Amino acid sequence: MLNFLLLNAFISLALAQCSFSSDNIVANWTTSNGQLTINFMNSKLSNQQYTGIAFGASMTNLEVIVFEVKNNKPIVLTGQTTAHGPPTTIDSITSSKAQTLSYKNGILMATVTRPISLISPRNNNLSGCSQWNFVAASPLNSDGSISKHTIQPKPMNVCPLNCPMMG
Ligand SMILES: *[C@@H]1O[C@H](CO)[C@@H](O)[C@H](O)[C@H]1NC(C)=O
Ligand SMILES: *[C@@H]1O[C@H](CO)[C@@H](O)[C@H](O)[C@H]1NC(C)=O
Repeated sequence: MLNFLLLNAFISLALAQCSFSSDNIVANWTTSNGQLTINFMNSKLSNQQYTGIAFGASMTNLEVIVFEVKNNKPIVLTGQTTAHGPPTTIDSITSSKAQTLSYKNGILMATVTRPISLISPRNNNLSGCSQWNFVAASPLNSDGSISKHTIQPKPMNVCPLNCPMMG
């Protein structure tokens, strides 16, 4: 019985996907007081490139958090895709707020916070389990707009409520 409980606890922890590491991206996330906090790092991002996370299973309806570097300055944008391709909407007020943001020696680091259940500018409740897609370094167009990603984004099934803030 005890072994069974321990095994279950171990499996729950192993299945609680609270971090991601691939394609020069290292990210982790926690929840607390209705807020989702994501630490995101891309250790190989050039000027005039972007990287980021897209929430959802279909390119026709993804909420995106984009970390881009323009004129060697890091910027956080949020938006929405409605078709296969770059986001068709960029929010005038970012829905995920940067708590920290830096870019140095090709390393972008950010901490962003968003309500777990976003209501504005769009409804997107991430309380359940959903697909998160991690987008590796990809180019910005010469006019600064977001170009198509160069590597297929890596999907991960994430249940953020399984990742409570510790301590
Ligand atoms: C999450 O990422 C941040 C920033 O990279 C790091 O300082 C922290 O140790 C990480 N937390 C866990 C639990 O991995
Ligand atoms: C988001 O989804 C969770 C779980 O399904 C639910 O409990 C919560 O009320 C939802 N939040 C809103 C604002 O609808």
